Amino acid sequence: MFKLIFCLVCASVTVSPSSSCLQCFVDPNDAVRMCWGYIIIEHDVRNIGECMRMVDRIFNHNKTVMDAGRVGRGHDQKLKDIMLAQIMPMVEEFDQKTHDENVYEARLRAAAEHFIAQASQLPRASGCVPPCGFQVEGSVYSCRGCQYESCEYPLDCPGEG
Ligand SMILES: *[C@@H]1O[C@H](CO)[C@@H](O)[C@H](O)[C@H]1NC(C)=O
Repeated sequence: MFKLIFCLVCASVTVSPSSSCLQCFVDPNDAVRMCWGYIIIEHDVRNIGECMRMVDRIFNHNKTVMDAGRVGRGHDQKLKDIMLAQIMPMVEEFDQKTHDENVYEARLRAAAEHFIAQASQLPRASGCVPPCGFQVEGSVYSCRGCQYESCEYPLDCPGEG
């Protein structure tokens, strides 16, 4: 039983190896709309890909953002609300308009900071009991896989299975 659950987690992590709190909650089409007018200053050209890389840098490769998203069971909807409240106004404002990369960077960093401040207030997981086993109450949301993960403790208990 424990082994089966463990392998389901493995499989889904392999499918989406690296996600971010923004990607978990913002529709990809909206991310593209937000990034539509991203201008690389040096070349004075629009580049959506560079914008996506900046989003990734700010929201994905940042432990503080990821940690803020580690809410307890049942609070991912609140997390989503917090993220959308930051990003959707930007989507509407930036769609079909150009802004240079510095404007994007300042706005995305501010959005990340607000997300951190608000998401950190949400309830964390409780009820994780060492040393092992699948524990529903202890599961924690992870923006890396956009899903709840079990406790940090190993799912497989020695001597079982
Ligand atoms: C993570 O993001 C926050 C908000 O943008 C920022 O204040 C912090 O310096 C970043 N941390 C790292 C290690 O980049």
